[in-house]
Amino acid sequence: MESGREEWRSKTGFVLAAAGSAIGLGNIWRFPYVAADNGGALFVLIYLGFVFLIGLPLMLSELTLGRKTLKNPFGAFQSITPNTPWRFVGILGILTGVGILSFYGVIAGWTVGYIYKAITGQFTNVSDPSQFAVIFGNFTGNPLVTILLFGSFITLTVFVVTGGIAKGIERWTRVLMPILFVILILLVIRSLTLGEGVGKGLSFYLNPNFADLKAGTVMQALGQALFSLSLGMGTMITYGSYISKKENLVSSAVSVVSFDTMIALVAGLAVFPALFALGMDPGTGGPGLVFVILPSIFDQIPGGLVFGTGFFILLSIAALTSTVSLLEVAVAYLIDEKKMSRKIAAISTGAITFIVGIPSALSQGASDFFGNIPFFHIDFLSFMNNAFGNFALIFGGFFISLYVGWRWGISKASEEIAIGSERFGYRKMWSFTLRFMAPLCIVSTFLYILITGNFF
Ligand code: TRP
Repeated sequence: MESGREEWRSKTGFVLAAAGSAIGLGNIWRFPYVAADNGGALFVLIYLGFVFLIGLPLMLSELTLGRKTLKNPFGAFQSITPNTPWRFVGILGILTGVGILSFYGVIAGWTVGYIYKAITGQFTNVSDPSQFAVIFGNFTGNPLVTILLFGSFITLTVFVVTGGIAKGIERWTRVLMPILFVILILLVIRSLTLGEGVGKGLSFYLNPNFADLKAGTVMQALGQALFSLSLGMGTMITYGSYISKKENLVSSAVSVVSFDTMIALVAGLAVFPALFALGMDPGTGGPGLVFVILPSIFDQIPGGLVFGTGFFILLSIAALTSTVSLLEVAVAYLIDEKKMSRKIAAISTGAITFIVGIPSALSQGASDFFGNIPFFHIDFLSFMNNAFGNFALIFGGFFISLYVGWRWGISKASEEIAIGSERFGYRKMWSFTLRFMAPLCIVSTFLYILITGNFF
């Protein structure tokens, strides 16, 4: 049957686009600060465990569901098990996409603002490294600037999504991600040569202390693994629906997971030595961490202005290939199920996301109310980050693993996986981790949190 659905142009096109979705602010902004907040190395170790035990099997499952059904997450569940409650997992995924994009777009707006700051030399020859925290605070405390930047970023995302899959997304990722990686390596080298404190930073980042174990840390590590890989809400179902039948799903999943994890680890290697060399306290950075640390490293590099500018341009683009994938889920749903045109779907979802995101934009200094919301006593952005970027993804990931592992079933899924790959060497491991490890890890993490009451 000829589906007529648009497809990625090539093998590398798909892997690059999926890696483009996965690699973004999650690796470079979120990973270092969540790791810092959660005590460093132990968090990193648990995160890596979850990437392998839950991330990889889920990645393969989502891609397979998507390529089999050629649908958005809602349509994917509908086409295999029509009118069962499973379809609500798809709906949850679509809402989660909007929830994540609403705060992710705010941070993406910051990266654009930082291009301007870098290019106008605001990060060079700063007398005292603590100034970078002041610069950041003044920036995010300005409501007009942050909302405008956020709005522009959402508009840009709508623009790319309207252009369609192959033309819109693939083109961006191909050349630019390798350059981002090169600048990151440069940052690592400079960070590692900042002198006193570097050793302490490395040990904080790489030498786990098991006495630090807390339920909150385990949950954050699980959330981070899913967030970073764009899993748990059907992004990879949607992207999988555009992969051709000729492709090998297993090797695609392995490549995306490895690229993504490597970038996060390298970003941490740039941040932590510098953090300690600058004499900062790791737990106090919060969402601003990399916006304070990275400019201070650029300030210490010859040609820092050029590299700093380049870095924030590339980071904005990395964020864009991720925001595109977040918006695409709801858009694919509206096109497939509601027969909307791509343009109308993208514009209306973008508009809703913008409205939902305004409190997040105001929560980092511009509004006292959104800076410390009632009941939760955290800022609105962190609340959204936890609610959608951790809980909803973990919830979604749980049901997707049960669905593919038990309901749709390993043997049906394996038939789809077999198309395009001669050998499925990872099958036994996949089946075991998907059916048992993933659901068990998720349930035990939740129980652990409930018992200790340690939610955030
Ligand atoms: N993974 C992306 C990042 O690390 C963000 C992202 C894109 C995402 N699509 C997603 C996160 C879907 C969760 C779910 O920046």
